[in-house]
Amino acid sequence: MAVATPHQAASEEEVLILQAVREIVAEKVAPRAAEIDERGEFPQDIRKVFAENDLLGIPIPAEYGGLGGTFLTYVKVVEEIAKACASSSLIVAVQELGMLPILIAGNEDQKKQYLPKLASGDWIAAYALTEAGSGSDAAGSMRTRAEKRGDTYVLNGQKIWITNGSVADVVCVFAVTDPEKGAGGISAFIVERGFKGFNVGKLEKKMGIRGSPTVELVFNDCEVPARNLLGAEGEGFKLAMKVLDKSRPGIAAQALGIAAGALEYATNYARERIAFGKPIGQQQGVGFMLADMKTEIEAARLLLYEAARKCDEGAPDVTLWAAMCKLKCGDVAMRVTTDAVQVLGGYGYSVEYPVERMMRDAKITQIYEGTQQIQRLVIARNLVGKPR
Ligand code: CAA
Repeated sequence: MAVATPHQAASEEEVLILQAVREIVAEKVAPRAAEIDERGEFPQDIRKVFAENDLLGIPIPAEYGGLGGTFLTYVKVVEEIAKACASSSLIVAVQELGMLPILIAGNEDQKKQYLPKLASGDWIAAYALTEAGSGSDAAGSMRTRAEKRGDTYVLNGQKIWITNGSVADVVCVFAVTDPEKGAGGISAFIVERGFKGFNVGKLEKKMGIRGSPTVELVFNDCEVPARNLLGAEGEGFKLAMKVLDKSRPGIAAQALGIAAGALEYATNYARERIAFGKPIGQQQGVGFMLADMKTEIEAARLLLYEAARKCDEGAPDVTLWAAMCKLKCGDVAMRVTTDAVQVLGGYGYSVEYPVERMMRDAKITQIYEGTQQIQRLVIARNLVGKPR
């Protein structure tokens, strides 16, 4: 049975990075958070600040222009940003999601061609797995086809719910190369936005993470050079899963950050708001709520950091830990933000206070990168196996 390893102190490098991130968040991100949500626009100014401060290539090795940092540092950075702005934290998290297929399965030429542009933040990456009929059942129902014609793969089909799809310069796309082989007939491709037949479709209007564009991508005889196949034909689904093992902790970090931001706001409010002659936080009804919120956040954080450490170690049980941390942090985010709205009462329901945005933003962390039901399925299969 997988167990947690003892806690390690943060490295000097990590301490410095997090210090810089806290300053950036306070000066540049937090003051923009409400506006980003209201306008529903991708914040290019925040992307630029993150790029200038090397935050878009944390786990990319230094030889490809990245910081060569750990996944643990990366999740802590996402968490810090999400405390103030969930949409902005997704810029960092989805850059990682989109570049991971190249980092994990790319050949030397592919890594040299794409990783430095992504590490510098000059290029934005996205990851295109989901389709209208293929969300949780990612392998069984995939319809996007890739057919090899000479030195080119021709892609046809649609992907939906693609985070950053409309601002991405490069997208890792999963498509069926052999429909007879199920999961073993899926392949992965590096697709640039300029490739013929690549089109951005409908932009979703969403409840939360409104500053993060979620779009449909349409491939109409999209021509992808054969050299842009990632790994071998048929290895795409396993690659998609390996990527999610490393990116689900990023979404867990986003969830945890949202929860921590909501708790901080609710706690400050509960210290100052007087009812029945004393601060509401000192009244048992509210004080106990805050106590539960704090305890849940700290428990979730231990699970997250352990999962990130397992990513760094390349531990064999990383699939299990990634699923557990995403499940726990997503549920904690939803519960804590809902309770934060409750602590603020009527003010919590007003857009003039940030906790209603945090509650709307929290919900997606229970849905994307695998619903909470899929995380439970992954965890249960790890314990008792997959039914035949
Ligand atoms: N690592 C390596 N290989 C893996 C793997 C992993 N973590 N998980 C599965 N595989 C392998 C299996 O071993 C199997 O290989 P063999 O046939 O050789 O044994 C193959 O992949 C197929 O696996 P399963 O039989 O387990 O596949 P399944 O059809 O039962 O589905 C699933 C598994 C876990 C449900 C998977 O479909 C899944 O994770 N679904 C959710 C999809 C998801 O998370 N989408 C998120 C989209 S991205 C997003 O949301 C980003 C965003 O917006 C920010």
